[in-house]
Amino acid sequence: MAELIVLLGPPGAGKGTQAKVLSQKLGLAHISSGDLFRDHLQRKTELGTLAQGYMQRGELVPDDVTIRMIRERMREEDCRKGAILDGFPRTLPQAEALDKFLADSKLGIVRKAPYIKVDPQVLVNRLSGRWSCRAGGHVYHEKFNPPKSAGICDLDGSELYQREDDKAETVANRIRVYFEQTAPLIEYYRRKNVLAEIDGARPIEDVTRDLLASVG
Ligand code: AP5
Repeated sequence: MAELIVLLGPPGAGKGTQAKVLSQKLGLAHISSGDLFRDHLQRKTELGTLAQGYMQRGELVPDDVTIRMIRERMREEDCRKGAILDGFPRTLPQAEALDKFLADSKLGIVRKAPYIKVDPQVLVNRLSGRWSCRAGGHVYHEKFNPPKSAGICDLDGSELYQREDDKAETVANRIRVYFEQTAPLIEYYRRKNVLAEIDGARPIEDVTRDLLASVG
């Protein structure tokens, strides 16, 4: 049975950064709900058009469409060994839907839910200096994790861009929405005995080391 790792943490905690490394080291698929929505947006699909307004305002896309999109993604071949879920679930109904889907489909279990803890004032600095790559979603920071050449991804040479929803006012709303709707998942996974608290306010490599130890 496949094993799933659910990465929890506020916007800017480092979920995407760490998920990329963990996925490579553990040989698990990386499923980022945000990246999936951004891909739909770029391709101008119906789902992308629906998600656009919510994302621009820093609100959550409705549960039903989000759950459907993730269920489809989890049925893909590369998830057979397991996956790292980055940004999903983000509400209690999404967490319950994931559990029901796993039980019904027998596709796997949630083995660990590492919660990357970072204070809100640190998050704002991280998001305002973030640069993401167009091709592979690799993430950089102009001060904390700069690319070798400004504006170009070290790994695939594609262009780096700043996300629309990293504007100060949208970031403030994303953080508020996180505390209202996503933070309750910490207790949800604690009660299931799979939560691991990780101090995310340290260098990227130190956070990776603790994450690997927590899921090992
Ligand atoms: P999404 O793309 O998931 O955004 P998020 O959760 O807000 O997370 P981020 O990508 O902003 O942060 P991260 O934790 O991945 O940090 P990162 O590694 O990039 O969602 C976007 C939108 O899509 C949502 O607002 C919503 O509208 C919609 N959506 C997505 N999922 C949904 C769902 N399930 N339900 C409904 N709607 C959904 O790091 C941030 C920066 O910090 C980078 O520059 C990085 O280089 C730097 N950094 C990382 N770690 C460190 C470190 N240890 N020290 C210093 N700098 C660091």
